[in-house]
Amino acid sequence: MPAPDLDTIVSLAKRRGFIFPAAEIYGGFANAYDYGPLGVELKRNIREAWWRAMVRERDDVVGLDAALLTNPKVWVASGHVANFTDPLVDCKTCQQRFRLDHLLEGAYPEVEKHAEGYKCPRGKCDFTEPRQFNMMFKTQVGPVADEASVAYLPPETAQGIFINFENVVASMRRKLPFGIAQSRVSFRNEITPGRFVFRTLEFEQMEMEYFCLPPKDRANPAEYLALYQSWVHERLRWYTEAVGIEPSRLRLREHTKEELSHYSAGTTDVEYLFPWGWGELEGIASRTDFDLTEHGKLSGHPLTYFDEESGQHVVPWVVEPAAGLTRTLAVAMLDAYTEEPDEKGDKRVVLKFKPAIAPVKVAVLPLSKNAALQPTARRVFDLLRPLWLTQYDETQSIGRRYRRQDEIGTPLCVTIDFQTVGEGGQPGDDAVTIRERDSQEQTRVPVSGLVDALRERLPGC
Ligand code: GAP
Repeated sequence: MPAPDLDTIVSLAKRRGFIFPAAEIYGGFANAYDYGPLGVELKRNIREAWWRAMVRERDDVVGLDAALLTNPKVWVASGHVANFTDPLVDCKTCQQRFRLDHLLEGAYPEVEKHAEGYKCPRGKCDFTEPRQFNMMFKTQVGPVADEASVAYLPPETAQGIFINFENVVASMRRKLPFGIAQSRVSFRNEITPGRFVFRTLEFEQMEMEYFCLPPKDRANPAEYLALYQSWVHERLRWYTEAVGIEPSRLRLREHTKEELSHYSAGTTDVEYLFPWGWGELEGIASRTDFDLTEHGKLSGHPLTYFDEESGQHVVPWVVEPAAGLTRTLAVAMLDAYTEEPDEKGDKRVVLKFKPAIAPVKVAVLPLSKNAALQPTARRVFDLLRPLWLTQYDETQSIGRRYRRQDEIGTPLCVTIDFQTVGEGGQPGDDAVTIRERDSQEQTRVPVSGLVDALRERLPGC
């Protein structure tokens, strides 16, 4: 089944409590979203899967959580103050602002292309000359707004890692090669209206800087390039194995020279086949020694590593896998979305999340609201709640409740019926039915064996 159109996901995301447009009661706020009760769980689960793969399951990567607001010199050294810019043009009639590269790629459906140039909806084919616009948000620290009080909201997490390189080496007694991972919010003053959470002003990233010895021959860094390629493939694998993305909707694409960021000697993107075409999910960049060198120069504090073998202080080289958490979340929803006919020929909507990613793992559903079912249903709920995020739902018909759980991607439902609790003076069997989301298969198990039976069906949870 092809990926659904974006409106379908936007509507489901709002209706079912994943993602809400920000500040809706005030008319919204462009390119900003709030994550609802299920969205926040989904986001946590994806971050957790990344952290597990990148930090916990490896012995060569450690974590970090650096300050968001930091010395503005960090962004001077990193090159973001001078180079983190987009070329913008304004329509001379209506003053609407467009990103030139996106305009040329046809990203503004409202802008028509004519023989004499582009025409915005209200204007003529008359745009200003391109100007470079810095995408960092500026703020001020303290009560006086002057040059000395300027601070920037971070547009990437990476710099917090570079400036702590020496602290991590010294405190954790790390030897090269090793990595430092960080996942948190970043900010960019994006001009092109985003497609849902694909491009937002505030978004979350999952980044890792992997430091290694510099190559002996800078012009022919064979070992470094092999390391870079191994990260490219490792990261591609993560999207299918950990997030459960359909492999045919993923590809790798190398950046052209013109596309490369100011810090990169080479970048490969992991791309997803969105409803509007291929788009970036993650970039794996060869940052060489750019950042450590620049911070060393501007701070006057060289960021080097003592290589015991050569007996020299060297500046490590870096491979950076940089992923978008909120973008991956949107892809997880798009990719998991399935429509299939149910037994009555109606549409059954299912988010086929991998269990480890699914926000809710189990739903406890008494067959009806009948008071006789409640004590056992509550007992089952209390049994499962400490182990997995579990929902209890007794309103509406059981069929509608199954549909609701399918639509939010809950892998398993547990149903308590009159056979469980007994009826008409007959004792119950204290067994419940497990219903699997994808196959809709139903299996009866005793409550005493329920936790083991669910654990078997919830790998990695
Ligand atoms: N430190 C390198 C870096 O930030 P990037 O390619 O600019 O590289 C990494 O960003 C990832 O962050 C992207 O692949 C994308 O998934 C995500 N990302 C970037 N800008 C975004 C935005 N405005 N909204 C949502 N996600 C974004």
